[in-house]
Amino acid sequence: MDLAHFTPGSGRLAPRAALRSDAPSLVLDGMWRFRLSPAADVPEDFADPDHDDSAWDELPVPSHWPLHGHGAPAYTNVSYPFPIDPPHVPTENPTGDYRRAFDLPEGWSGGRLRFEGVESYARVWLNGHELGFTTGSRLPAEFDAGPYLQPGRNVLAVRVHQWSAASYLEDQDMWWLPGIFRDVTLTRSTADVFVHASYDAGTGRGTLSFDGPGRLSVPELGVDGLEPGTPVTVDVEPWSAEAPRLYDAVVSGPEETMRLRVGFRTVAIEDGVLLANGRPLLLKGVNRHEFHPEHGRAVPYETMRQDILLMKRHNVNAVRTSHYPPHPAFLDLCDELGLWVVDECDLETHGFGQVGWRANPTDDPRWEEALLDRMRRMVERDKNHPSVIMWSLGNEAGVGRNLAVMARWTRERDPSRPIHYEGDWSCADADVYSRMYASHAEVEAIGRGVEDPLPDPRLDARRRAMPFVQCEYAHAMGLGPGGLADYQELFERYPRLAGGFVWEWIDHGLAHPEHGYAYGGDYGEPVHDGNFVIDGLVFPDRTPSPGLLDLKKVFEPVRFAFDDGVVRVHNMYGFRDLSHLEFVATVEADGEEVARFPLDVPAEGGEVEPPAAPGGEGERWLTVRAVLARDEPWAEAGHEVAWGQTRLPAAAPRADAGAGGAAEELAAARLVAGEPAAGQPAVGGSAVGEPVVEEPVVGEFAVGGGRFDARGRLVRLFGLDVEGPRLELWRAPTDNDRYGGLAGTWRAAGLHRLTHRVDEVTPVDDGAGLAVRTRVAPAATDLGMRVAYRWAADGDGLVLTVEVEPEGEWTGPIPRLGVVMALPGELGEVTWFGRGPGEAYPDTGMAARVGRWSATVDAMQTPYVRPQENGHRAEVRWATLTGPGGRGVRVSGDPVFGLTARRWTTADLERARHRPDLVPGDRIHVNLDLAQQGIGTASCGPGTLPAYELRAEPAAFRLRFDPA
Ligand code: GAL
Repeated sequence: MDLAHFTPGSGRLAPRAALRSDAPSLVLDGMWRFRLSPAADVPEDFADPDHDDSAWDELPVPSHWPLHGHGAPAYTNVSYPFPIDPPHVPTENPTGDYRRAFDLPEGWSGGRLRFEGVESYARVWLNGHELGFTTGSRLPAEFDAGPYLQPGRNVLAVRVHQWSAASYLEDQDMWWLPGIFRDVTLTRSTADVFVHASYDAGTGRGTLSFDGPGRLSVPELGVDGLEPGTPVTVDVEPWSAEAPRLYDAVVSGPEETMRLRVGFRTVAIEDGVLLANGRPLLLKGVNRHEFHPEHGRAVPYETMRQDILLMKRHNVNAVRTSHYPPHPAFLDLCDELGLWVVDECDLETHGFGQVGWRANPTDDPRWEEALLDRMRRMVERDKNHPSVIMWSLGNEAGVGRNLAVMARWTRERDPSRPIHYEGDWSCADADVYSRMYASHAEVEAIGRGVEDPLPDPRLDARRRAMPFVQCEYAHAMGLGPGGLADYQELFERYPRLAGGFVWEWIDHGLAHPEHGYAYGGDYGEPVHDGNFVIDGLVFPDRTPSPGLLDLKKVFEPVRFAFDDGVVRVHNMYGFRDLSHLEFVATVEADGEEVARFPLDVPAEGGEVEPPAAPGGEGERWLTVRAVLARDEPWAEAGHEVAWGQTRLPAAAPRADAGAGGAAEELAAARLVAGEPAAGQPAVGGSAVGEPVVEEPVVGEFAVGGGRFDARGRLVRLFGLDVEGPRLELWRAPTDNDRYGGLAGTWRAAGLHRLTHRVDEVTPVDDGAGLAVRTRVAPAATDLGMRVAYRWAADGDGLVLTVEVEPEGEWTGPIPRLGVVMALPGELGEVTWFGRGPGEAYPDTGMAARVGRWSATVDAMQTPYVRPQENGHRAEVRWATLTGPGGRGVRVSGDPVFGLTARRWTTADLERARHRPDLVPGDRIHVNLDLAQQGIGTASCGPGTLPAYELRAEPAAFRLRFDPA
């Protein structure tokens, strides 16, 4: 079989819209007979209706065969998993033969076999007759079945080759997953319809026309029997992602009746601004691959719906269908629930970039037909969706003549939608200037219109008049992304910036019996890109990651500003007012609610004066929340859409002054010189809250409730076995630390293997405290930190002051600055007053608000698919770690600290490659940080912004420990 040719298909019918028609159709999904061969040159006798397939396996359609025990998935990002020698492909070419018999209903004649998606090269036989072949995995193909259909039993046979010349066009960053992965139907529908429904914001009227057979009616609008090609103008409510108004339409043709849902909306570009219905359109988007941890890209309908509900609930208003047209039902749901969609063609040739773009199909006339075919099939299928506002020519396919061919055809066929393509920065074939991972500084320059010019003045002038879209930014790989709020601030400041699409929606972790979720390399692929496929805002099971919670905050359609007793409410919606929301305010004092009242906010937003907040001791915060007043199709009444918080002026002096004020009242600290000391607080034992009398050991020190070894390390605290807090500079590198190169620099500097030299342990303040002078440094360098720990007893508690003085030439940021200690494993319940409930780092954690929170140590872990630093709670005033009976330790900051608590060490966390590698030990390892390095998005894109960097500089911080 010659698979090394440029022709995209044969025997296929002209592409047409995905339509709901009353023409009979037969769904052919279900169990098929299946056989996998290792090469393409298998005899074709299987297509014979009488072929004996009784020894074959069964395989569900739709599905991918590697997810059903045939072969294995493989992941690459840019690299082709075969030699770059177009149009040739390897002889080793997994080939799946499918067979299925079906009974034709009585009276049925004619029909088309429709395949919504087959990866990658499908040959189709009906009753032994070959109907043709198709490529273009994520695009539909129809074959005329009529001539070969027979009454009663029919046998459909499909041969699917994983590799063909077309594979060179499908180098998207995702798993290679062959198979018939979307629906197969036999349909008697043949019609095509193209509905044009625009909206004029000036008049408030919509114009409707259509191409196709028959007559169009929209009863709700009084449109009845509209003829093709005759526009009618009517009063309508426009469609937008915020208010997705749809009108039911019926096209009655001679052979069939089609039902459509029409949305009136107009997309335009004026003065370099992207407009929808005459208003600036700010895309708050995500890139969505089709993915399910068990089913791959054969995503169940309910999962598609769940994606959209999750997006809407997290204030996402747009989707780029990276990097291929999704299942058609997904776009129906976008129409219905409301998302702006950039529909992307199934085209990527990124791997040619690794050979200097030599022989790139995008610029080779022999591939023109194949590329145009893909564009046509997308546009024809999806042209009736109001949600689709742009066509994208593809992703990372370099530059070349075939893009112009695709764009020219598209403009002619559908002038109503702008064209997007990122891979050619000259924008020769696009209508919007699109980039990925541009830094904040560059985005700002583009926003101001002062970007570097293109060499060609004509193209430069053209591009300068275009709106800007970041089709990918904020790489959500592992912990992060950092810097989201900073991008949003720019998008909102400059009208030219139309927003963008975070990379990406979901971690493509495949369910795996041993690893939990698998990523590249877990199936033994010789070429792979590891966990680069795990870069989503939701985990593989669609649990929102902290990154999505942050995004929700950053994308909020309502903003609150607080000023002099006034709450200013800004409506950030583009297309609706605030009348669908209710506003609720609460006042908390030290995290305890002391008041709650509704706020009466005008529909257009504005200033509101909340009632005077009641007094109450301690730190008082006003939190205002905007919640849905009524059910929306995507969330129930009460769903929180936005919130804002401000600290109220102190009503009374703080009762808990933190660790600070207490230092003078130091209790006795003394060297235990062999004699048990009278009056020494009982220490020792590790059972929580059970005081155990213990003989002091020669050479130890005691300060209040703390017991120290001869080297000044805390070994017991309030009767608990601990390992003393000592300086920590390391964190288990995040994906951003690793891919961005910082982790390598840090490791080379030895920050993960600090040595601690104790220079001096001295009782101080007449024996009322203990001073421990140390030098903390990695081997093989002259970098180091002088660290002085000073302990002082204060009442029942202990105060620790840490002073850090860097020595040597420290360049670049450091991971963290803080102390680490180990506590008994029973102290698994944590309560804190600070930001929460989730994790927060210097440039993440927008979702974390000040309050009093409780969680178990286990629940405080963010289960990143590839383990890494996580779970840091920010600006913690105090925290208790307690066990059975509520006893344990309380730590207070002066004024705040960063908290992480886990049942494994940082080294364990760093060693782990998958979730199950993390095995709880018998201690809780607690980091108490003064600061951490920001997160950034250097795994793909800019690193941490300077404002969020942590430098090695002289520092001092204070912590207080009390029994809890
Ligand atoms: C982009 C690409 C995406 C993905 C991302 C990194 O270059 O378009 O498909 O690979 O980088 O995760």
